[in-house]
Amino acid sequence: MSISDPVRLGVAGLGRGFMLTLPSLRVDPHVTLVACAAPREESRQAFLEEFGGNAHASIEALAADPAVEAVYIATPHQMHREHAEILAAGGKHILVEKPLAVSMEDADAIVEAARRAGVHLITGPSHSFDQTVLKAAEMIASGVYGEPRMVHATNYTDFLYRPRRPEELDTAQGGGVIFSQAVHQIDVVRLLMGKRAMQVVAMTGNWDPDRPTEGAYSALVSFEGGAFASLTYSGYAHYDSDVLMNGVSELGQPKPEGTYGKERRALQSVSTPEEEALMKSGRTYGAVDAPPPAPHSEHFGPIIVSCDRADLRLTPDGVEVWGDLEKSFVPTPADPSPRAPVLKALYNTVRGTGAPQQTDAWGRASLEICHAILQSADEGGFVTLEYQ
Ligand SMILES: NC(=O)c1ccc[n+]([C@@H]2O[C@H](COP(=O)([O-])OP(=O)(O)OC[C@H]3O[C@@H](n4cnc5c(N)ncnc54)[C@H](O)[C@@H]3O)[C@@H](O)[C@H]2O)c1
Repeated sequence: MSISDPVRLGVAGLGRGFMLTLPSLRVDPHVTLVACAAPREESRQAFLEEFGGNAHASIEALAADPAVEAVYIATPHQMHREHAEILAAGGKHILVEKPLAVSMEDADAIVEAARRAGVHLITGPSHSFDQTVLKAAEMIASGVYGEPRMVHATNYTDFLYRPRRPEELDTAQGGGVIFSQAVHQIDVVRLLMGKRAMQVVAMTGNWDPDRPTEGAYSALVSFEGGAFASLTYSGYAHYDSDVLMNGVSELGQPKPEGTYGKERRALQSVSTPEEEALMKSGRTYGAVDAPPPAPHSEHFGPIIVSCDRADLRLTPDGVEVWGDLEKSFVPTPADPSPRAPVLKALYNTVRGTGAPQQTDAWGRASLEICHAILQSADEGGFVTLEYQ
């Protein structure tokens, strides 16, 4: 497919998030990378060598770059507000990494900045843009299977033991699995349900004093009309639920054998937070290459949706339908651009031919559920949601 007017895209932050979207940014016809902003000289140089264009040292310079129509903000969570405000004021449309922000006040400010400037804002790419999730949402919305009543989403990963910047281990600064991981599950279940979330009750786990932030949670979210979703996550690097996803990793790659305990083992070689942050930046753009194109769709762990007339199980290759009398399978072929749906959504939004559900207000509503999980775990009982 060729597109005559791809969105001229700038990127703010050439770290891990950018690396994971890079396989798509390299091949997707809906966007052309024309500029970046990055504080590190090596990253800017690597960008210029691969894409040409303009490599800026500040967000302000990126916001003032006339070659840029839209910017993918892939800087740390706590910077999203400042960067979105500067870019919106510069008239740039925005694709901002999840979570939209850390505090609800910052989320409000981002929504306000985008609206004041009249720019579009998409929150993503979260796993709600995965091909299988979008296919399942479309199948549920068709009504063929009856009302969605219950979603069960679970994921066991090594999230907490991947190398981290210090603030990623501090909940107050947006660290821990609630802001970085629960937000994926929240986006996914909201999209699959297609209904307003009402209340949340949750408990969280903060079990490792050396990494003193939430590493696990279980949450129950109620939806309009009595539907509900259970969300469970552990990032404590023991069980790996990718074994329930046909041995396919979150990024759609076959999981290599013999790598059990790899992240914990790697951490044994660092002794200070600074060394750990260096280990993280050593895995980003300009230092190592991005993963190759994935043969399967990305996923966020086992997810089953119970509707009146069928249970739908999401797999890395499509949707299993466990109906009343028969089972069937609806495939979602892997795309050479694994994150095509979010880039296509950005294109349609900027060109005025459609908008995804995952807008600025959507991102704020998902962030509210993150805060509700923390609040419920802290105070006990149900938290009623207001921004949905
Ligand atoms: N969707 C996904 O699959 C996914 C995966 C990883 C991270 N993320 C998201 O990406 C965002 C960044 O997290 P990360 O893990 O990539 O962190 P990271 O530390 O690897 O990358 C952040 C990058 O921002 C750069 N940066 C810092 N200040 C800047 C500034 N003022 N201007 C421009 N660049 C600046 C840093 O140099 C670094 O390269 C977070 O919001 C995170 O949730 C998303």
